[in-house]
This record gives sequence, C-alpha cells and structure tokens, in this order.
Amino acid sequence: MDRDSIDRLGAELAAAADAAADTAALEAVRVAALGKKGRVTELMKGLGAMAPEARRAAGQSLNQLRDRIEAAIAARAEAIRRRDRTAKLAEEKVDVTLPVRPTAEGKLHPVSQVIDEVTEIFAAMGFVVAEGPDIEDDFHNFTALNIPPEHPARQMHDTFYLAGGAGSNAPPLLRTHTSPVQVRTMQAGPPPYRIVVPGRTYRRDSDQTHTPMFHQIEGLAIDRSITMGHLKGCLEEFARAFFESDQVRMRFRPSHFPFTEPSAEVDINYTVENGVVRVGAGERWMEILGCGMVHPKVLEMCGVDPAQWQGFAFGMGLDRIAMLKYGIPDLRTMFEGDLRWLAHYGFSPLDLPSFGQGLSR
Ligand code: PHE
Repeated sequence: MDRDSIDRLGAELAAAADAAADTAALEAVRVAALGKKGRVTELMKGLGAMAPEARRAAGQSLNQLRDRIEAAIAARAEAIRRRDRTAKLAEEKVDVTLPVRPTAEGKLHPVSQVIDEVTEIFAAMGFVVAEGPDIEDDFHNFTALNIPPEHPARQMHDTFYLAGGAGSNAPPLLRTHTSPVQVRTMQAGPPPYRIVVPGRTYRRDSDQTHTPMFHQIEGLAIDRSITMGHLKGCLEEFARAFFESDQVRMRFRPSHFPFTEPSAEVDINYTVENGVVRVGAGERWMEILGCGMVHPKVLEMCGVDPAQWQGFAFGMGLDRIAMLKYGIPDLRTMFEGDLRWLAHYGFSPLDLPSFGQGLSR
C-alpha cells in the first residue's frame, strides 16, 4: 500500500471517528479500524509477507496510521463525554429560587407546633433544650426531687409502674413529670444551668381533662443569684410572646411542691365568647403551670452546693396551652390520631415558628 492510500485511509477513518454520534458509534468505528478484523489490523497482518526493506517502511507508516486513528478516537470520546455531561447538568438543573410547593397532606400536630413555639421563646431568653428518657427510675422521678418513698405526693402522681424491680430496687416507671430531667442535667455537669425540657409524661388518669399520656415543658435556671423575680419576669415574657398579646395577665398563687420552696401555681386570664376561648380577656382563671425556687435539698442531692447556687424551676402543661391558643375544645381528641382532626387543627411543616416571621403565622 502506498503512502497516498494510507493517508487517504487515515483521513477517512479519522473523519468517521469525528462523525460518531455517541460512544457506541465510536466503538464501532474503533472495531472496524483497529479490531481483530479491522482494516488497519488487516494491513498490518500483510507486513509479514514483505521483504525486510519494504516491511520497515510500510510498518512505520502503518504505525503512524494507527496512532493517528487512536488519537482521533480519543479526541472524539472526550468531546462526547463533555457534551453528555453538559446535557446532563442542564437537565438536572434546579431553580433554587422557586418557592417550594406546599405539601398537600401531612400536618404538624398542634402539640409539636406548640413545642416549637415555646422552645423558640425560651431559646431567645438563653435557655437550651435538654431531654431525658420516658422510662425513668424511682430516684430521678421521685427521691432526688425530695419525694422520699413514704411521701404522699407519690400517690398523687398516679404512677404507671413497669415490670421489674426486686428486693430494695423499685420498679422502673413512666415519668410522671419532666422534672427528672432537672436531676439528670444537674448530675451531668456543674452549674450554671438554663434549660427547657419538652416531652411526654404519663399518669394513670383519664377523663375529659386528663389523658394517660400528656406533654409538659420543664424549665430550670440555676446561677449564683437567680430570684423569684427572674422567674416571674421570664414567665410573663413567655405568656405575652406565646399568646401574642400584651393583654395576658398572670396570677401567681402560693402552692406546694416537694422540690421547690417557695412554690406557686400560675393562672392566666381568659373568657369564653360564643363558645370560643379567648386568652388575655375577662376574669376567668386557668392554671397552666407549677413553679418555684429549687429546694436546697434537691440541689444537694444532685451534687450542687446550695450555699453557692440557687434558681427556679417550672413545669407547664403543653396540651392545655395548645388548646387555649388554638381553640381546641376537647383534650382527648388531641391523641385519637384522627386525620380529619389533624387536617383541621394541624400546621404546615414548612412554617417554623420564629420571631422574625411571627410565631404562629
Ligand atoms: N413537676 C410539677 C408537676 O408536674 C410541676 C413543677 C415543675 C412544679 C417544676 C415546680 C417546679 O406538677
């Protein structure tokens, strides 16, 4: 084969490579040229029959031919790869500035919404969220909170006990309040503490205004000089922010809890207009929380020196304030899992409560 024909063949095969539309077509070009029975391969097979002089010259041109075609194929492969990637990127492009489509189904339960709102309010005051287990032991739920075994408060808690516990070991139980997380927090590290603890709580109680499972949020603030005045300020600020009204009034009534001294229960004012509850108006009072200054014995039992540290705690019923704020008339419907109820009272999971946007927008 002379030089000219080799050049022509090279041009023809390189053009075929350039024209290949995709990887499969390009592979076909490669096989037809360089495969076992490819045109270049066939030419190379003919070298063996040539005289040495001619073979060297022909061998050189055929090697150049093969290099040229390999280079054309590689260049085309790279071009195809780029083209495909560009197309893929264009196809997968997302316009992140488009508004998210609202979800048709799936609503946030009012209790979840209220937990988000309440923690947002206390977070803005410098509290952080802490959590603890639903299944507690006797020490954290009672003893460390100054409720020793023979204390009458234990009866009032209507505790669900679990199987287990032998000899002097009391059985595990479902926590009757979120207060054991006060104990766990103090045991976990040194003061100061500023925590809020939302969570499920359990008591053997079921009627129009009680469900065996309900929700509380605990607050604990311990530092060197925290007073009842701080407690009052925080709770009043909370009530105004949560009910989104400056009109809400609070009433602190003296009370008793074994783990606080002094102790108070807090009511807010409300009225009922045409069957709808309105908070922050009228002269009716509704109890929403218990609170007080953490008892020195509790601090001591948790390893905190009461001569150096003091502060307040509160425990608030979340279900009740959810009902008050969102006009839900019956507590028990909150936990029936009825989707129609949730469609009516639920919240969009995309609207996170924040002060910037309005808490319950
Ligand atoms: N744990 C109390 C209850 O469930 C509420 C409370 C918490 C009272 C913290 C005072 C301080 O009734």
